[in-house]
Amino acid sequence: MTQPAVNRRDFLSLATGAALAVGVVGAAKPFAQSLFPAKDVLALSTTEVDLSTIAPGTTRTVIYRGKVVFVRHRTPEDIAAATAGDATAVIEPQTDKARVQKPEWLVVLGNCTHLGCVPKAAEGSDHGWACPCHGSYFDASGRVVKGPAATNLPVPDYRFVSDTKIVIGIKPEDKKAS
Ligand code: FES
Repeated sequence: MTQPAVNRRDFLSLATGAALAVGVVGAAKPFAQSLFPAKDVLALSTTEVDLSTIAPGTTRTVIYRGKVVFVRHRTPEDIAAATAGDATAVIEPQTDKARVQKPEWLVVLGNCTHLGCVPKAAEGSDHGWACPCHGSYFDASGRVVKGPAATNLPVPDYRFVSDTKIVIGIKPEDKKAS
């Protein structure tokens, strides 16, 4: 007569285990989904910039994912200064060509790579940016030429969607294609 009691205990253990397993799976799914943002949220994480309203020789400051981005419409003089700077940008050497998609347009993050201040357009013939906080200097390609900053202004992911529009950031469909 003891056999049925053991079977009942086994059944209760199995049922409890199964219920726990279902609960864990049920709780894990929404958790896992929360780790991957929806497509519409990802799409919002891009910033479109209308280039047609940025005059040559001026810089538009936009915000992308809470970060400052400089979009500079470079003049022939800016481009010449940036190209000449290939030889003098020795702190983090990079050619100007490697930092732009079209010579007339420079797109860089606009926070100083030292401690994050926003550099100001420098006066003078070198067409760069000077950081007001500790004196770092960035040239017409956004490359650091004087510290304490040790790295260039980074170039964010962006693409031209037409001659007069760029999208900063990567859309979900771009990630699928790449
Ligand atoms: S934050 Fe720019 S030099 Fe320190």
